[in-house]
Amino acid sequence: MFDLIVRNATLADGRTGIDVACKDGVIAAVDEGIAAEAGEVIDAKGYLLSPPFVDPHFHLDATLSLGTPRMNVSGTLLEGIGLWGELKPLQSVEDIATRALRYCELAIAKGIGAIRSHVDICDDELKGVRALLDVREKVSDHIDLQLVAFPQDGLLRDPTAKDNMMRALEMGVDVVGGIPHFERTMSDGAESVRMCCEIAAERGLMVDLHCDESDDPQSRHIETLAFEARRLGLQGRVTGSHLTSMHSMDNYYVSKLIPLIVEAGVNAIPNPAINIMLQGRHDSYPKRRGLTRVRELRDAGVRVGFGSDCMMDPWYSLGKADMLDIAFMGLHVGQLASLDDMAWCFDAVTENAARIMGLDGYGIAKGCDANFVLLQANNKIEAVRLRAHRLAVIRRGKLICQSNEVTFGLTVLSGAALNEARLT
Ligand code: FE2
Repeated sequence: MFDLIVRNATLADGRTGIDVACKDGVIAAVDEGIAAEAGEVIDAKGYLLSPPFVDPHFHLDATLSLGTPRMNVSGTLLEGIGLWGELKPLQSVEDIATRALRYCELAIAKGIGAIRSHVDICDDELKGVRALLDVREKVSDHIDLQLVAFPQDGLLRDPTAKDNMMRALEMGVDVVGGIPHFERTMSDGAESVRMCCEIAAERGLMVDLHCDESDDPQSRHIETLAFEARRLGLQGRVTGSHLTSMHSMDNYYVSKLIPLIVEAGVNAIPNPAINIMLQGRHDSYPKRRGLTRVRELRDAGVRVGFGSDCMMDPWYSLGKADMLDIAFMGLHVGQLASLDDMAWCFDAVTENAARIMGLDGYGIAKGCDANFVLLQANNKIEAVRLRAHRLAVIRRGKLICQSNEVTFGLTVLSGAALNEARLT
Protein backbone atom coordinates (compact mmCIF):
# COMPACT_ATOMS: atom_id res chain seq x y z
CA MET A 1 0.00 0.00 0.00
CA PHE A 2 1.56 3.25 -1.16
CA ASP A 3 0.66 6.77 -0.06
CA LEU A 4 0.40 8.06 -3.63
CA ILE A 5 0.71 6.71 -7.17
CA VAL A 6 0.94 8.94 -10.23
CA ARG A 7 -0.19 6.75 -13.13
CA ASN A 8 0.49 6.94 -16.86
CA ALA A 9 3.11 9.68 -16.84
CA THR A 10 5.65 10.67 -19.45
CA LEU A 11 9.05 11.34 -17.90
CA ALA A 12 11.62 13.93 -18.91
CA ASP A 13 13.84 11.20 -20.41
CA GLY A 14 11.04 10.28 -22.85
CA ARG A 15 9.71 7.12 -21.17
CA THR A 16 5.91 6.92 -21.43
CA GLY A 17 3.17 5.02 -19.59
CA ILE A 18 5.11 5.19 -16.34
CA ASP A 19 3.68 4.87 -12.82
CA VAL A 20 5.49 6.52 -9.92
CA ALA A 21 4.68 5.20 -6.45
CA CYS A 22 5.48 7.14 -3.28
CA LYS A 23 5.74 6.10 0.36
CA ASP A 24 6.79 8.18 3.38
CA GLY A 25 7.79 11.15 1.22
CA VAL A 26 10.15 9.30 -1.11
CA ILE A 27 9.79 7.47 -4.40
CA ALA A 28 9.29 3.75 -3.76
CA ALA A 29 8.94 2.52 -7.35
CA VAL A 30 9.08 3.80 -10.94
CA ASP A 31 7.70 1.29 -13.43
CA GLU A 32 5.02 0.49 -15.96
CA GLY A 33 1.70 -0.73 -14.54
CA ILE A 34 2.45 -0.89 -10.83
CA ALA A 35 -0.14 -3.31 -9.44
CA ALA A 36 -0.74 -1.90 -5.99
CA GLU A 37 -3.17 0.27 -4.08
CA ALA A 38 -2.46 3.77 -2.88
CA GLY A 39 -4.13 6.26 -0.58
CA GLU A 40 -4.26 8.69 -3.48
CA VAL A 41 -4.02 8.12 -7.23
CA ILE A 42 -3.36 10.81 -9.81
CA ASP A 43 -3.99 10.06 -13.48
CA ALA A 44 -1.27 11.91 -15.41
CA LYS A 45 -3.09 11.17 -18.71
CA GLY A 46 0.25 10.76 -20.44
CA TYR A 47 1.45 14.25 -19.57
CA LEU A 48 4.98 15.17 -18.48
CA LEU A 49 5.88 14.46 -14.87
CA SER A 50 9.09 16.26 -13.94
CA PRO A 51 11.05 16.82 -10.78
CA PRO A 52 10.23 20.36 -9.63
CA PHE A 53 11.63 23.47 -11.20
CA VAL A 54 14.66 24.91 -9.46
CA ASP A 55 15.54 28.60 -9.48
CA PRO A 56 19.26 28.82 -8.70
CA HIS A 57 19.42 32.63 -8.60
CA PHE A 58 16.87 34.93 -7.01
CA HIS A 59 16.52 37.84 -4.56
CA LEU A 60 13.70 37.17 -2.12
CA ASP A 61 14.50 40.27 -0.06
CA ALA A 62 13.80 42.62 -2.98
CA THR A 63 10.97 40.85 -4.78
CA LEU A 64 7.51 42.46 -5.06
CA SER A 65 8.86 45.86 -3.98
CA LEU A 66 8.28 47.41 -7.41
CA GLY A 67 7.67 51.15 -7.26
CA THR A 68 8.82 51.69 -3.70
CA PRO A 69 10.05 54.29 -3.24
CA ARG A 70 10.13 54.93 -7.01
CA MET A 71 10.69 53.24 -10.38
CA ASN A 72 14.07 52.62 -12.04
CA VAL A 73 14.02 55.28 -14.76
CA SER A 74 17.19 54.44 -16.69
CA GLY A 75 16.64 50.69 -16.45
CA THR A 76 20.29 50.09 -15.61
CA LEU A 77 21.84 47.75 -13.06
CA LEU A 78 23.51 50.70 -11.33
CA GLU A 79 20.30 52.72 -10.91
CA GLY A 80 18.69 49.53 -9.59
CA ILE A 81 21.42 49.20 -6.96
CA GLY A 82 20.97 52.87 -6.03
CA LEU A 83 17.20 52.46 -5.79
CA TRP A 84 17.57 49.36 -3.62
CA GLY A 85 19.82 51.47 -1.36
CA GLU A 86 16.94 53.98 -0.99
CA LEU A 87 14.46 51.22 -0.17
CA LYS A 88 16.57 49.32 2.37
CA PRO A 89 16.24 51.74 5.30
CA LEU A 90 12.49 52.10 4.70
CA GLN A 91 11.60 48.42 5.09
CA SER A 92 11.16 46.31 8.20
CA VAL A 93 11.95 42.65 8.81
CA GLU A 94 8.20 42.01 8.63
CA ASP A 95 7.89 43.81 5.26
CA ILE A 96 10.62 41.65 3.76
CA ALA A 97 9.21 38.43 5.21
CA THR A 98 5.68 39.23 4.00
CA ARG A 99 6.82 39.85 0.42
CA ALA A 100 9.09 36.81 0.41
CA LEU A 101 6.28 34.58 1.64
CA ARG A 102 3.97 35.91 -1.06
CA TYR A 103 6.59 35.13 -3.67
CA CYS A 104 7.10 31.62 -2.26
CA GLU A 105 3.38 30.95 -2.62
CA LEU A 106 3.53 31.96 -6.28
CA ALA A 107 6.66 29.88 -6.84
CA ILE A 108 5.19 26.77 -5.21
CA ALA A 109 2.07 27.03 -7.37
CA LYS A 110 4.30 27.27 -10.44
CA GLY A 111 6.04 24.03 -9.51
CA ILE A 112 9.28 25.51 -8.17
CA GLY A 113 10.66 23.17 -5.50
CA ALA A 114 13.85 25.01 -4.57
CA ILE A 115 15.20 28.56 -4.74
CA ARG A 116 18.73 29.83 -4.12
CA SER A 117 18.13 33.37 -2.88
CA HIS A 118 20.81 35.97 -2.37
CA VAL A 119 20.18 38.12 0.70
CA ASP A 120 21.77 41.54 1.07
CA ILE A 121 24.05 41.70 4.12
CA CYS A 122 25.04 45.38 3.63
CA ASP A 123 22.68 46.44 6.39
CA ASP A 124 24.04 46.40 9.93
CA GLU A 125 20.67 45.26 11.30
CA LEU A 126 20.72 42.29 8.86
CA LYS A 127 16.98 42.73 8.35
CA GLY A 128 16.93 40.64 5.19
CA VAL A 129 18.86 37.82 6.81
CA ARG A 130 16.55 37.74 9.83
CA ALA A 131 13.47 37.80 7.59
CA LEU A 132 14.63 35.11 5.18
CA LEU A 133 15.93 32.73 7.85
CA ASP A 134 12.44 32.85 9.32
CA VAL A 135 10.79 32.41 5.91
CA ARG A 136 13.14 29.49 5.07
CA GLU A 137 11.84 27.70 8.15
CA LYS A 138 8.18 28.61 7.55
CA VAL A 139 8.06 27.32 3.98
CA SER A 140 10.27 24.26 4.40
CA ASP A 141 7.40 21.79 4.09
CA HIS A 142 6.62 23.20 0.65
CA ILE A 143 9.83 24.56 -0.88
CA ASP A 144 13.57 24.46 -0.13
CA LEU A 145 15.31 27.81 0.26
CA GLN A 146 19.08 28.12 0.13
CA LEU A 147 20.40 31.54 1.19
CA VAL A 148 23.50 33.33 -0.10
CA ALA A 149 25.17 36.07 1.99
CA PHE A 150 25.33 38.79 -0.64
CA PRO A 151 27.30 42.02 -0.04
CA GLN A 152 25.31 44.14 -2.50
CA ASP A 153 27.42 47.28 -1.86
CA GLY A 154 30.73 45.42 -2.14
CA LEU A 155 32.57 43.23 0.37
CA LEU A 156 35.44 45.77 0.48
CA ARG A 157 33.59 48.87 -0.68
CA ASP A 158 31.11 48.71 2.20
CA PRO A 159 32.93 49.23 5.52
CA THR A 160 30.94 46.69 7.55
CA ALA A 161 30.20 44.10 4.87
CA LYS A 162 32.92 41.64 5.93
CA ASP A 163 31.73 41.63 9.57
CA ASN A 164 28.13 41.33 8.43
CA MET A 165 29.05 38.46 6.12
CA MET A 166 30.55 36.52 9.03
CA ARG A 167 27.54 37.31 11.25
CA ALA A 168 25.12 36.14 8.54
CA LEU A 169 27.00 32.86 8.08
CA GLU A 170 26.99 32.34 11.87
CA MET A 171 23.23 32.89 11.85
CA GLY A 172 22.75 30.08 9.34
CA VAL A 173 23.04 31.56 5.85
CA ASP A 174 24.22 28.74 3.57
CA VAL A 175 26.44 30.13 0.80
CA VAL A 176 29.13 32.84 0.43
CA GLY A 177 28.27 35.59 -2.08
CA GLY A 178 30.06 38.57 -3.59
CA ILE A 179 29.99 41.20 -6.30
CA PRO A 180 33.57 41.81 -7.47
CA HIS A 181 32.65 44.03 -10.45
CA PHE A 182 31.06 46.54 -8.03
CA GLU A 183 34.19 46.95 -5.88
CA ARG A 184 36.09 50.20 -6.41
CA THR A 185 38.91 48.75 -8.51
CA MET A 186 39.65 45.62 -10.47
CA SER A 187 42.25 44.69 -7.84
CA ASP A 188 39.73 45.14 -5.01
CA GLY A 189 37.37 42.94 -7.00
CA ALA A 190 40.04 40.24 -7.25
CA GLU A 191 40.75 40.58 -3.52
CA SER A 192 37.03 40.15 -2.76
CA VAL A 193 36.95 36.96 -4.84
CA ARG A 194 39.92 35.60 -2.90
CA MET A 195 38.29 36.50 0.43
CA CYS A 196 34.96 34.87 -0.50
CA CYS A 197 36.65 31.65 -1.59
CA GLU A 198 38.82 31.51 1.54
CA ILE A 199 35.81 32.06 3.81
CA ALA A 200 33.99 29.24 2.02
CA ALA A 201 37.00 26.91 2.16
CA GLU A 202 37.44 27.49 5.91
CA ARG A 203 33.76 26.82 6.59
CA GLY A 204 33.11 24.05 4.07
CA LEU A 205 30.56 26.17 2.19
CA MET A 206 29.66 26.84 -1.43
CA VAL A 207 30.40 30.12 -3.23
CA ASP A 208 28.08 31.94 -5.64
CA LEU A 209 29.27 35.34 -6.84
CA HIS A 210 27.53 37.92 -8.97
CA CYS A 211 30.49 37.87 -11.33
CA ASP A 212 31.34 40.22 -14.19
CA GLU A 213 27.75 41.44 -14.53
CA SER A 214 28.68 44.15 -16.99
CA ASP A 215 29.41 44.78 -20.67
CA ASP A 216 33.08 45.39 -19.88
CA PRO A 217 35.19 43.14 -22.14
CA GLN A 218 38.16 43.67 -19.80
CA SER A 219 36.42 42.34 -16.68
CA ARG A 220 38.41 39.37 -15.40
CA HIS A 221 36.78 38.27 -12.14
CA ILE A 222 35.65 34.91 -13.54
CA GLU A 223 39.32 34.18 -14.27
CA THR A 224 40.19 34.96 -10.64
CA LEU A 225 37.22 32.90 -9.42
CA ALA A 226 38.40 29.88 -11.40
CA PHE A 227 41.95 30.39 -10.10
CA GLU A 228 40.83 30.56 -6.45
CA ALA A 229 38.39 27.64 -6.81
CA ARG A 230 41.21 25.44 -8.08
CA ARG A 231 43.80 26.75 -5.59
CA LEU A 232 41.52 26.02 -2.63
CA GLY A 233 40.15 22.71 -3.89
CA LEU A 234 36.59 24.01 -4.23
CA GLN A 235 35.83 22.27 -7.54
CA GLY A 236 32.08 21.79 -8.00
CA ARG A 237 31.19 24.11 -5.10
CA VAL A 238 31.73 27.45 -6.85
CA THR A 239 29.39 29.29 -9.18
CA GLY A 240 29.73 32.41 -11.30
CA SER A 241 26.35 34.07 -11.71
CA HIS A 242 25.65 36.24 -14.76
CA LEU A 243 29.12 36.28 -16.43
CA THR A 244 27.67 38.79 -18.92
CA SER A 245 31.06 40.35 -19.67
CA MET A 246 31.95 37.09 -21.43
CA HIS A 247 29.49 38.16 -24.13
CA SER A 248 31.79 41.09 -24.96
CA MET A 249 35.20 39.50 -24.43
CA ASP A 250 37.73 38.91 -27.15
CA ASN A 251 37.30 35.45 -28.70
CA TYR A 252 40.96 34.56 -28.28
CA TYR A 253 40.85 35.34 -24.57
CA VAL A 254 37.65 33.29 -24.14
CA SER A 255 39.38 30.35 -25.82
CA LYS A 256 41.83 30.42 -22.92
CA LEU A 257 39.27 31.26 -20.22
CA ILE A 258 36.67 28.52 -20.76
CA PRO A 259 39.13 25.65 -20.21
CA LEU A 260 40.20 27.35 -16.96
CA ILE A 261 36.55 27.42 -15.82
CA VAL A 262 36.19 23.74 -16.73
CA GLU A 263 39.41 22.80 -14.94
CA ALA A 264 38.24 24.59 -11.80
CA GLY A 265 34.80 22.93 -11.84
CA VAL A 266 33.08 26.32 -11.66
CA ASN A 267 29.36 26.36 -12.51
CA ALA A 268 27.60 29.11 -14.45
CA ILE A 269 24.20 30.70 -13.84
CA PRO A 270 23.07 33.04 -16.62
CA ASN A 271 19.85 34.91 -15.88
CA PRO A 272 18.40 35.41 -19.36
CA ALA A 273 15.48 37.75 -18.62
CA ILE A 274 17.43 40.23 -16.51
CA ASN A 275 20.56 39.96 -18.66
CA ILE A 276 18.74 40.87 -21.86
CA MET A 277 16.95 43.67 -20.00
CA LEU A 278 19.96 45.28 -18.28
CA GLN A 279 22.95 44.68 -20.54
CA GLY A 280 23.87 46.65 -23.63
CA ARG A 281 22.31 49.79 -22.13
CA HIS A 282 25.30 51.94 -23.06
CA ASP A 283 25.35 50.73 -26.66
CA SER A 284 23.81 52.52 -29.59
CA TYR A 285 23.26 50.07 -32.46
CA PRO A 286 24.05 47.27 -32.84
CA LYS A 287 23.21 46.56 -29.18
CA ARG A 288 24.87 43.65 -27.45
CA ARG A 289 22.60 41.01 -25.93
CA GLY A 290 24.74 40.53 -22.84
CA LEU A 291 23.85 36.90 -22.20
CA THR A 292 27.00 34.92 -21.46
CA ARG A 293 28.27 32.26 -23.88
CA VAL A 294 25.80 29.59 -22.85
CA ARG A 295 26.39 27.14 -25.67
CA GLU A 296 30.18 27.37 -25.52
CA LEU A 297 30.29 26.96 -21.74
CA ARG A 298 27.89 24.01 -21.84
CA ASP A 299 29.67 22.29 -24.73
CA ALA A 300 33.01 22.62 -22.93
CA GLY A 301 31.56 20.79 -19.93
CA VAL A 302 30.55 23.61 -17.58
CA ARG A 303 27.37 22.94 -15.62
CA VAL A 304 24.94 25.70 -16.64
CA GLY A 305 21.61 26.47 -14.97
CA PHE A 306 19.28 29.36 -15.74
CA GLY A 307 18.10 31.64 -12.93
CA SER A 308 15.31 34.19 -12.86
CA ASP A 309 17.09 36.71 -10.57
CA CYS A 310 14.27 39.21 -10.14
CA MET A 311 10.54 39.73 -10.14
CA MET A 312 8.90 43.13 -9.68
CA ASP A 313 11.81 44.81 -7.93
CA PRO A 314 14.25 47.70 -8.58
CA TRP A 315 15.84 45.82 -11.48
CA TYR A 316 12.96 44.09 -13.24
CA SER A 317 9.30 45.11 -13.38
CA LEU A 318 7.84 41.89 -14.75
CA GLY A 319 7.88 38.17 -13.98
CA LYS A 320 5.47 35.57 -12.60
CA ALA A 321 7.66 33.02 -10.85
CA ASP A 322 7.67 30.89 -13.95
CA MET A 323 10.92 29.06 -14.72
CA LEU A 324 9.54 28.07 -18.13
CA ASP A 325 9.46 31.79 -19.02
CA ILE A 326 13.15 31.85 -18.11
CA ALA A 327 13.92 28.76 -20.19
CA PHE A 328 11.97 30.29 -23.10
CA MET A 329 13.95 33.52 -22.87
CA GLY A 330 17.26 31.67 -22.57
CA LEU A 331 16.39 29.59 -25.62
CA HIS A 332 15.77 32.69 -27.73
CA VAL A 333 18.58 34.94 -26.57
CA GLY A 334 21.06 32.06 -26.64
CA GLN A 335 19.74 30.92 -30.04
CA LEU A 336 19.39 27.39 -28.64
CA ALA A 337 17.00 26.20 -31.33
CA SER A 338 17.98 22.63 -32.25
CA LEU A 339 15.87 19.81 -30.76
CA ASP A 340 18.64 18.91 -28.32
CA ASP A 341 19.20 22.54 -27.40
CA MET A 342 15.51 23.22 -26.75
CA ALA A 343 15.23 20.15 -24.53
CA TRP A 344 18.41 21.24 -22.74
CA CYS A 345 16.77 24.56 -21.85
CA PHE A 346 14.25 22.57 -19.77
CA ASP A 347 17.17 20.83 -18.03
CA ALA A 348 18.70 24.24 -17.28
CA VAL A 349 15.75 25.10 -14.99
CA THR A 350 15.42 21.63 -13.48
CA GLU A 351 18.23 19.10 -13.21
CA ASN A 352 21.23 21.34 -13.92
CA ALA A 353 20.06 23.98 -11.47
CA ALA A 354 19.44 21.30 -8.82
CA ARG A 355 22.96 19.94 -9.23
CA ILE A 356 24.48 23.42 -8.97
CA MET A 357 22.61 23.91 -5.69
CA GLY A 358 23.78 20.51 -4.49
CA LEU A 359 20.23 19.30 -3.80
CA ASP A 360 20.10 15.76 -2.45
CA GLY A 361 17.34 13.38 -3.51
CA TYR A 362 16.44 15.30 -6.67
CA GLY A 363 15.03 13.32 -9.60
CA ILE A 364 12.50 10.68 -10.52
CA ALA A 365 14.06 7.40 -9.43
CA LYS A 366 13.60 5.01 -6.54
CA GLY A 367 14.84 6.60 -3.33
CA CYS A 368 14.57 10.23 -4.53
CA ASP A 369 12.31 12.70 -2.77
CA ALA A 370 8.71 12.42 -3.96
CA ASN A 371 8.66 15.98 -5.32
CA PHE A 372 7.12 16.57 -8.76
CA VAL A 373 5.34 18.94 -11.04
CA LEU A 374 2.85 17.58 -13.57
CA LEU A 375 2.83 19.69 -16.71
CA GLN A 376 0.20 19.85 -19.42
CA ALA A 377 2.75 18.99 -22.09
CA ASN A 378 3.89 15.83 -23.79
CA ASN A 379 7.63 16.44 -23.60
CA LYS A 380 10.28 18.95 -22.50
CA ILE A 381 10.25 20.98 -25.70
CA GLU A 382 6.48 21.33 -25.62
CA ALA A 383 6.71 22.38 -21.98
CA VAL A 384 9.05 25.23 -22.95
CA ARG A 385 7.06 26.14 -26.08
CA LEU A 386 3.78 26.46 -24.18
CA ARG A 387 5.25 27.53 -20.82
CA ALA A 388 3.03 24.61 -19.94
CA HIS A 389 0.15 24.77 -17.54
CA ARG A 390 0.81 23.17 -14.12
CA LEU A 391 -1.72 20.44 -13.44
CA ALA A 392 -0.36 19.27 -10.09
CA VAL A 393 2.44 19.97 -7.66
CA ILE A 394 3.47 17.17 -5.32
CA ARG A 395 5.78 17.62 -2.35
CA ARG A 396 7.08 14.69 -0.30
CA GLY A 397 4.37 12.47 -1.71
CA LYS A 398 1.49 14.87 -0.97
CA LEU A 399 -0.56 16.77 -3.53
CA ILE A 400 -0.16 20.45 -2.60
CA CYS A 401 -1.48 22.24 -5.72
CA GLN A 402 -3.93 21.09 -8.35
CA SER A 403 -5.52 22.59 -11.42
CA ASN A 404 -7.75 21.48 -14.28
CA GLU A 405 -6.50 21.07 -17.83
CA VAL A 406 -6.81 24.18 -19.93
CA THR A 407 -7.69 24.54 -23.57
CA PHE A 408 -5.61 26.82 -25.67
CA GLY A 409 -6.73 29.87 -27.41
CA LEU A 410 -8.30 28.91 -30.67
CA THR A 411 -12.03 28.98 -31.01
CA VAL A 412 -12.93 28.10 -34.58
CA LEU A 413 -16.31 29.21 -35.85
CA SER A 414 -17.52 26.88 -38.60
CA GLY A 415 -21.02 27.73 -39.76
CA ALA A 416 -23.18 27.61 -36.66
CA ALA A 417 -20.90 25.08 -34.95
CA LEU A 418 -18.43 26.07 -32.31
CA ASN A 419 -15.33 23.91 -32.19
CA GLU A 420 -12.46 24.18 -29.81
CA ALA A 421 -9.01 23.25 -31.05
CA ARG A 422 -6.58 21.90 -28.52
CA LEU A 423 -3.05 22.75 -29.36
CA THR A 424 -1.26 20.41 -27.00
FE1 FE2 B 1 21.22 38.64 -8.70
